[in-house]
Amino acid sequence: MRIEVNGIDLIKLLKEISSKTKIKSYIVGGVVRDFLLGVKNLDIDVVVEGDGIEFAYILLSYLKGDIVVYEAFRTATLSYDGISIDVISARKEYYERPAALPTIEFSNIYDDMARRDFTINTLAYDVIEEKILDYFNGLEDLKKGLIRVLHPKSFIDDPTRIFRAIRYATRYSFEIEEKTHNLMKDSIENIRLLSADRIRNEIFLILKESKAKEMIDKLIYYGIDKVIFDGITLNTQHLDTVYVNLEIELYRFLVLFYYLKESDINKIEKRLRVNKIYLKALKDLVFLREQLNCQNKNIRKIRETIEETKEEVLRAIEVMEGEKAEKIIKGKLTVKGKDIKNLGLPPSPLYGELMDNVFEAKINGIIATRDEEIAFLKKLIEKLKKGE
Ligand code: CTP
Repeated sequence: MRIEVNGIDLIKLLKEISSKTKIKSYIVGGVVRDFLLGVKNLDIDVVVEGDGIEFAYILLSYLKGDIVVYEAFRTATLSYDGISIDVISARKEYYERPAALPTIEFSNIYDDMARRDFTINTLAYDVIEEKILDYFNGLEDLKKGLIRVLHPKSFIDDPTRIFRAIRYATRYSFEIEEKTHNLMKDSIENIRLLSADRIRNEIFLILKESKAKEMIDKLIYYGIDKVIFDGITLNTQHLDTVYVNLEIELYRFLVLFYYLKESDINKIEKRLRVNKIYLKALKDLVFLREQLNCQNKNIRKIRETIEETKEEVLRAIEVMEGEKAEKIIKGKLTVKGKDIKNLGLPPSPLYGELMDNVFEAKINGIIATRDEEIAFLKKLIEKLKKGE
């Protein structure tokens, strides 16, 4: 295994620091799993048998970069262009009640592996001995393509692992091992115990994946959507589409809730506690989608919404509606109030009406380019001046 950060061989460096400080360090989890699977992973987790923050500062003195420290768990994250290194103090975890965050106690590498979700995530690369530690048969499960929990209470302790099992199984085309599968199915109701923040986090982790559609289809298959969103229909059509320069989570979130009823927007707000930007985008989406199918269109509000809404909203409508959407989306005007002023009309409430007229001409295909918008405005203003 070789990981290069800022031109430096990370494993060699960890070995050097560990030898000097006598603090043992291990590369663990996703990066080891993905290295063995031949998949690129730039989120590196390092577990140290000692103080993670102290170790992280030593690492920083060699690697430079930025550091963020989390006092509570004595961990720190170093970041570089596209690469992050989490330095974790080895710990043991206790769950006092289902779905609560665990209480921790600083410990050793074995306990740190034992607190983890699935065997394939319990592989640790010992940088001094230069070998993989495999306490829970993770290597065998990785070979067989199996997602397996370490103990029967795993999903009860932490129901987010239900989402994680589906995510890993789908991402790597693995199977969920039979006992694990039964335990998982038995715990689905426990998802209700999770906070909105934790559920949102899991949904958005799924939306970032290239097989997001298949993953959401599986959530639906297991009835997880009912537990979280009772009664709200999720849409998975076109969910895997990607646009460069768009925020993928926002775009896919909008596609996922494409058929949301206006009266259910509050439910999403409550269940996922999405931020104001996401909520506003969702409201714009629902409004525009309804307007598309409505005879008596609110031209003013459509025009204003299209002008100010996020690009992700327009792309989501476009992908879902095809040509039908184009009709209103292509209406987005390039002319602004100041263009009307330049054409010699002093500011007045007439501006809004003129803009509405240009917008209507544009969605009806009478005009298309900016020059045509200006020419159309000119004509309207001339007519106005003549008192027509
Ligand atoms: N973990 C866990 N239970 C959770 C979340 C995380 O046991 N609910 C453990 C897993 O063993 C995981 C490690 O914490 O390997 C780091 O979590 P994360 O960064 O989410 O996992 P990765 O394996 O790096 O996953 P991904 O490739 O999806 O980023």
